[in-house]
Amino acid sequence: MRVLVTGGAGYIGSHTVLALLDAGHEVLVVDSFANSKPTVIPRLEELSGQHIPVHAFDLRDADKTERLFADERIDAVIHFAGLKAVGESTEQPLAYYENNLGSTFALLRAMERHDVRTLVFSSSATVYGEDAPVPYVENRDHLSSSNPYGWTKVMQEQILADVAAASPGLQVAILRYFNPVGAHESGQIGEDPQGIPNNLMPYIAQVAVGRRERLSVFGGDYDTPDGTGLRDYIHVVDLAAGHVAALGHLAANPEIAVRAWNLGTGQGTSVLEMVHAFERASGVPIAYEIVGRRAGDLPASYAKTERAETELGWRAERSIDDMCADTWRWQSANPQGFPG
Ligand code: NAD
Ligand code: WQD
Repeated sequence: MRVLVTGGAGYIGSHTVLALLDAGHEVLVVDSFANSKPTVIPRLEELSGQHIPVHAFDLRDADKTERLFADERIDAVIHFAGLKAVGESTEQPLAYYENNLGSTFALLRAMERHDVRTLVFSSSATVYGEDAPVPYVENRDHLSSSNPYGWTKVMQEQILADVAAASPGLQVAILRYFNPVGAHESGQIGEDPQGIPNNLMPYIAQVAVGRRERLSVFGGDYDTPDGTGLRDYIHVVDLAAGHVAALGHLAANPEIAVRAWNLGTGQGTSVLEMVHAFERASGVPIAYEIVGRRAGDLPASYAKTERAETELGWRAERSIDDMCADTWRWQSANPQGFPG
């Protein structure tokens, strides 16, 4: 297939570009570089040995998005583009609603006009909201979130379901990611947050490499085995493979209009377990202190994984130790992230 990857220069998108090329698909990328650097692209080309056409614009520019679909043959779209920082979304809700919904509107319009019928969408475990019991199951009726970023995902899922219901032939795979971490085993691409990392793994990695003094562990008094929060960390290379599996599943099952799958491991790992795993992988002690809970954090989040296993034939294979070793390879080789 010829697959348009929106946000293909970003963390998960870049790893998925490699997985798609490896599986024999053709890829083209659109990215505004709002949260990524163009220098990722030559690395992807070197790793894959293939030329990757890149269109640098904001998907919300409906004319440019339309022209891209008019000029290029596109069989399927994987839609990663969006803003993703939870804290920032509470400070700039309008920017998040505008960007995340606006890019999806322009994309859906262009897909409709050019009869592109396959879409894989990046959703998040955040749509299970604050009250769902763990492990999270896909057939939960009411989705919600505790922050504007999460609401953009809930809203986009609803929009996609409505559009799919009204568009015979359109197929939408909604993939709800748990906590993506890790990096490509080459150490050439990985997560490169701008500014102070919001998420645990990049923060630990930056402490290990000397960019940050110490990790603040948000809360040591949760009702969990060691008192720190439990999350379902999933290696980004496994996650990327889940997208290839979803494309294949839609192609093999044309009756599917819209369906959601969790992409996680089903295992909860605590903050301190992750810290210690990273110390083992890197050989570097990680300074940390336990501080108060972070607003909006849940004690535990992990996936029920059966649906993806039985239907997509996909399961996460990489361990927490793999996640730490690969993150460390990327971070230690690229202490300041991508150049540029
Ligand atoms: P990322 O920020 O690294 O990648 C997103 C890419 O989209 C960036 O390269 C950015 O420049 C681009 N982009 C943003 N808005 C755009 C627009 N309007 N037009 C064109 N390009 C635009 O993020 P990521 O971690 O790779 O996440 C990819 C997707 O997965 C996002 O939709 C995110 O919400 C979702 N997701 C991420 C996580 C996570 O923890 N990383 C978890 C669940 C879901
Ligand atoms: C993991 C654990 C923290 C940082 C977020 C989004 C979610 C999804 C993935 C996009 C928690 C603790 C963290 C730190 C810490 N993104 N922590 N010190 O919050 O599970 O999920 O990213 O869809 O929507 O909310 O991930 O990596 O921020 O936190 O102690 O400096 O690490 O309290 O227990 P989270 P995270």
